[in-house]
Amino acid sequence: MKVCIIHGSPRKGNTYKATSIFMETLRNHGTVEFTEFFLPRDLPHFCLGCTNCFEYGEERCPHVSYVQPIVESMRDADGIVLTSPVYVLAASGGMKAFLDHLGYLFMAHRPMEEMFSKVGMILSTAAGGGTGLTNKNMSRCMRFWGIPKIYKCGLTIFAGSWETMPINKQKRYEKALNKKAKQFLNSIERRGKHRTPLFTRAMFSVMRRMIGSYSDDSADKVYWQKKGWLEGENLPFV
Ligand SMILES: Cc1cc2nc3c(=O)[nH]c(=O)nc-3n(C[C@H](O)[C@H](O)[C@H](O)COP(=O)(O)O)c2cc1C
Repeated sequence: MKVCIIHGSPRKGNTYKATSIFMETLRNHGTVEFTEFFLPRDLPHFCLGCTNCFEYGEERCPHVSYVQPIVESMRDADGIVLTSPVYVLAASGGMKAFLDHLGYLFMAHRPMEEMFSKVGMILSTAAGGGTGLTNKNMSRCMRFWGIPKIYKCGLTIFAGSWETMPINKQKRYEKALNKKAKQFLNSIERRGKHRTPLFTRAMFSVMRRMIGSYSDDSADKVYWQKKGWLEGENLPFV
């Protein structure tokens, strides 16, 4: 089983601690190969808004040498984990910059067929509040990439660090993370058998009609045509 983890912070702080507990449970219950990326180290640029990815293809992104190794690792993985500390009630700048670079993978453009059978996990930590908004920020992108099964976990620390939280709270959070890890693992074992959410079906169908009306030389239409999706063939879900 392969799991690709994209850490929204370079710090080995609360979010990393929570992610480590999650990873440890996965290790204890299966043979897991992790690939980890740390933001912003592994993608140290903002999206420039050139729209090259949308108009011509992702290989024309000025940051292709950073973006594509992460995307290829995501393609190769059974499960994808996105993590972030809460920064002003949203995901970190590093995580947002990463998600911006992957806009072309939205169903409105050129979704990756492998995404439609993957399992996602979203994890955030906050001092006080905002994990709900932050998790939504990240899980919405996974949804628009086509991922059918997404787990979420938001932890409010209310302390200087993980270690200074009351011990019973640490244990409660460890238990919650263990539970999520087991659910994530079970879902990966059932990979490809998940029911495609109604949202995905509806969105894909609307996009199919919209992209079908584009000019024949548009990158999105060429892609959908090549996949056979415009004719309703080889759909990435059943
Ligand atoms: C720039 C910045 C903004 C933050 N904004 C929030 C916030 O909106 N809500 C909150 O509860 N905590 C906020 N925090 C606190 C962090 O989310 C919290 O301490 C988190 O657990 C840090 O994770 P880390 O140790 O992995 O870096 C913020 C911290 C920073 C540095």
